[in-house]
Amino acid sequence: MPALLFTYPTLFMLSQIKDIAAKLAPRLIEIRRHLHSHPELSGQEYQTAAYVAGVLSSCGLRVQELVGKTGVVAELAGTGTDSRLLAVRTDMDALPIQERTGLEFASMQPGIMHACGHDVHTTVGLGTAMILSQLGEPLPGNLRFLFQPAEETALGASWMVRDGVMADVNSIFSLHVFPTIPAGSVGIRYGALTAAADDLDITVIGESGHGARPHEAIDAIWIASQVITTLQQAISRTQNPLRPVVLTIGKIEGGRAPNVIADQVRMLGTVRSLHPETSAALPAWIEQIVSNVCQTYGAKYTMHYRRGVPSVQNDMALTQIIEAAAQEAWGSDRVQILLEPSLGAEDFSLYLDHAPGTMFRLGVGFADKPNYPLGSREWGGGGWGDD
Ligand code: NI
Repeated sequence: MPALLFTYPTLFMLSQIKDIAAKLAPRLIEIRRHLHSHPELSGQEYQTAAYVAGVLSSCGLRVQELVGKTGVVAELAGTGTDSRLLAVRTDMDALPIQERTGLEFASMQPGIMHACGHDVHTTVGLGTAMILSQLGEPLPGNLRFLFQPAEETALGASWMVRDGVMADVNSIFSLHVFPTIPAGSVGIRYGALTAAADDLDITVIGESGHGARPHEAIDAIWIASQVITTLQQAISRTQNPLRPVVLTIGKIEGGRAPNVIADQVRMLGTVRSLHPETSAALPAWIEQIVSNVCQTYGAKYTMHYRRGVPSVQNDMALTQIIEAAAQEAWGSDRVQILLEPSLGAEDFSLYLDHAPGTMFRLGVGFADKPNYPLGSREWGGGGWGDD
């Protein structure tokens, strides 16, 4: 789809959008603060979904609830001059983090916090629906708003897709807040935005024995250490350095006593990659190394490789549209081209199996205060959720 043929907001429409947005600003701040103080965990967004459905219904949109478990879908029909359907995706879930910001609209749910900004995303999605439904000039094409649950657990998009939300969609857009970009600016990324993220579960099976007589045993701890070392070295020597692979073993357990040779070691890890071909080849590549190392020292193994979400690959033409629209709306000094992707993961990629799309970064950084990373324990306790 050549970018220039796609319908841009006209200058008249843009000024209307800005006028309506300015009038709605106090209401949108109120919505965001309400959402922030009432966070819900992944897959349990019942109150949030009901609230979202209420706002969307009040805009006159056709609303469907309980899509993808606790998701909400709303349709805004255009004039029919353009039959294409554009989807706008928003995620609604919060993180298991205790909020200690002291803000007047801080979380009222102990141990749960909107520390990844999905309260902002939900507000932006609602604001977009409110503004576009109030435009004097009707839209030529059709819009579908997707409010998905459970992005943090990388399950929500698959639930939504399974319930058919991508039927007839021609393109899909989304955003994620980004604290290192100042508020009032956006970050645009061409190509890969986030990584494929898979789970790895390896058990090395040796034979137990006395710590003083290693030759009579098969030391699963030592062999597991060889597996880890070989995998890390093999990434640097056999994977294309221009197509990054990150393999992190984050948990390892095995052994019973200081003087007993361990018969089993289990290792759990995460595998990140950006290039779809690399991602496709990784399970067999990892298993070959695990198998070879174990075989060399007489151990057996089991390995489970669980596919998580694929890499978000932003469509070039749609990304150009976002960049041009942001420049027109805000000025080119507020539009950053991001030179690097993130090795975090984002289940927006699951929608991209069904239609081209693009996701951009919305700046939310303070100029005069510290900016903590998303999902940071600096906000409170716990601390996970880096996508
Ligand atoms: Ni997030």
